[in-house]
Amino acid sequence: CGIVGYVGPQSALGVVTAGLKRLEYRGYDSAGVAVLADGGLATAKRAGKLVNLEKELAERPLPTGTTGIGHTRWATHGGPTDANAHPHLDNAGRVAVVHNGIIENFAALREELAERGHDLSSETDTEVVAHLLAEEFSGCADLAEAMRLVCRRLEGAFTLVAVHADEPDVVVGARRNSPLVVGVGEGEAFLASDVAAFIAHTRDAVELGQDQVVELRRDAVTVTDFDGRAADVRAYHVDWDASAAEKGGYASFMLKEIAEQPKAVADTLLGRIDGSGALTLDEVRIPANVLRETDKVVIVACGTAFHAGLIAKYAIEHWTRLPCEVELASEFRYRDPILDQQTLVIAVSQSGETMDTLMALRHAREQGAHVLAICNTNGSTIPRESDAVLYTHAGPEVAVASTKAFLTQLVACYLVALYLGQVRGTKWADEIRAVVRDLSSIAGAVERVLETMEPVRELARSLAGKDTVLFLGRHVGYPVALEGALKLKELAYMHAEGFAAGELKHGPIALVEDDLPVVVVAPSPRGRSVLHDKIVSNIQEIRARGARTIVIAEEGDEAVAPYADHLIRVPATPTLLQPLVATVPLQVFACELATARGNEVDQPRNLAKSVTVE
Ligand code: G6P
Repeated sequence: CGIVGYVGPQSALGVVTAGLKRLEYRGYDSAGVAVLADGGLATAKRAGKLVNLEKELAERPLPTGTTGIGHTRWATHGGPTDANAHPHLDNAGRVAVVHNGIIENFAALREELAERGHDLSSETDTEVVAHLLAEEFSGCADLAEAMRLVCRRLEGAFTLVAVHADEPDVVVGARRNSPLVVGVGEGEAFLASDVAAFIAHTRDAVELGQDQVVELRRDAVTVTDFDGRAADVRAYHVDWDASAAEKGGYASFMLKEIAEQPKAVADTLLGRIDGSGALTLDEVRIPANVLRETDKVVIVACGTAFHAGLIAKYAIEHWTRLPCEVELASEFRYRDPILDQQTLVIAVSQSGETMDTLMALRHAREQGAHVLAICNTNGSTIPRESDAVLYTHAGPEVAVASTKAFLTQLVACYLVALYLGQVRGTKWADEIRAVVRDLSSIAGAVERVLETMEPVRELARSLAGKDTVLFLGRHVGYPVALEGALKLKELAYMHAEGFAAGELKHGPIALVEDDLPVVVVAPSPRGRSVLHDKIVSNIQEIRARGARTIVIAEEGDEAVAPYADHLIRVPATPTLLQPLVATVPLQVFACELATARGNEVDQPRNLAKSVTVE
């Protein structure tokens, strides 16, 4: 969910709705706002995307006020209806609250409130907070204090922002787990889940820590812990501006972000390899002796970041000879994984807030493991709670389906793998040096792929009426196939599955029927030619059963050409780096196919970009 709060001289409604627009990637099931005006509280909320709320506001304008809050929701408790949309109010309509997260003891609190005569109208866990705040406020007439008292009673993950009609120039926020950032302007202050919401007004931000409460006034920002003690906070200056979060002439954020990939890759490499080809990852503050003693690497991540982890496994095991496991973060801590001080856990997350990944890393640290985060969002929770972080420099990624963040996650994973190899000294030293050289030309290779995408777009449009597409790959091409399938599911709402090409004959080949599109990621014929020969056989097997083969193959690979109904060429790269070029056509394919099917690519149904609940 996305949260915005404002206090200052401007119309709060304008600031809050513009902020919500920038946070819509965080959820778009429903949206709502509350403003303090004329001694009271005025609210509007609507199921569906923000445009529905905007229509409502145009038809029934709210009175003008200069303090307000807003919310864009990804439904958890209670379906996405008008009634369940935030803000939620107390019975007297004096307190309004928006919330991100899940309050685990809400049923008990709700019962308690009902016994005391409260009438709760929605199915959400948030409404209980509004009622509790109203009760506590009546005792102390101080909203920040009321918030602290309430937070001490809540269990689970929550970020809350509230206003009270009796304190018209105050917005109060509380944070446990999901993010909350303060924007400090001249005579005005902002609160939001992400700086993108207020970047048009100020680039000076203060990040709230875990279990902190903030009171916002026009000229004062006060942060305490839940017991009211003054708290330490980190102030910082945002190093990108509003234009980075605009579409800049592209039809969608996704198209813009696909096009930005060469730069994102180059920026992520920048300054990390010195003139002699050695890696200089000074940010990885895990001491060299700890990295030398490491006897196992475990990667935890979700969604697209998980696919980056699957690819990293091949690189880490090959270059460092360390065993590497890759695990879905949501599964990790529930299976009692074997971890100790010699385990290096790598948490990969674009947003740095995915709750499943956060919980996995907390579990790993509790067991004594060292945790390195690979993250795209400066100062977010996952890097804050890790021992070290390697930032990807993709810039803000707005489209829900991840593209440029994925490529930079791969680059960061390669850097970590090479760095581990360098620190530990492996017999692959020459190969590592060669890879470092290849990495420096990889952004150009990605650029070349982007220049040749027209036939891919044409092919995608021609397949808009299909129901199923299969994706096959071997070695690192297998996770690429999984990522291609995920993109198609997310964007085109089609049945799409990725398989290891060698596994096909053990079951999935039964799915192949006449004219079924099957995308095959062919490995380089150089180097590991055995792999290449095997995939040529796999392509023949499916073609013999009527599949329409779409083959992604390296320039100059003539052996696959006779078996490809459609051939997509990518520049030659070392096998381990091939995902950086081979994934790009699959992103373009999914984006174009979704558009041809009339889907909105930036905000696919049912999804949210950062999922801050488990
Ligand atoms: C959500 C998004 C996915 C993303 C995953 C992990 O489910 O819809 O696109 O890959 O979260 O996100 P993270 O921010 O941790 O990389």
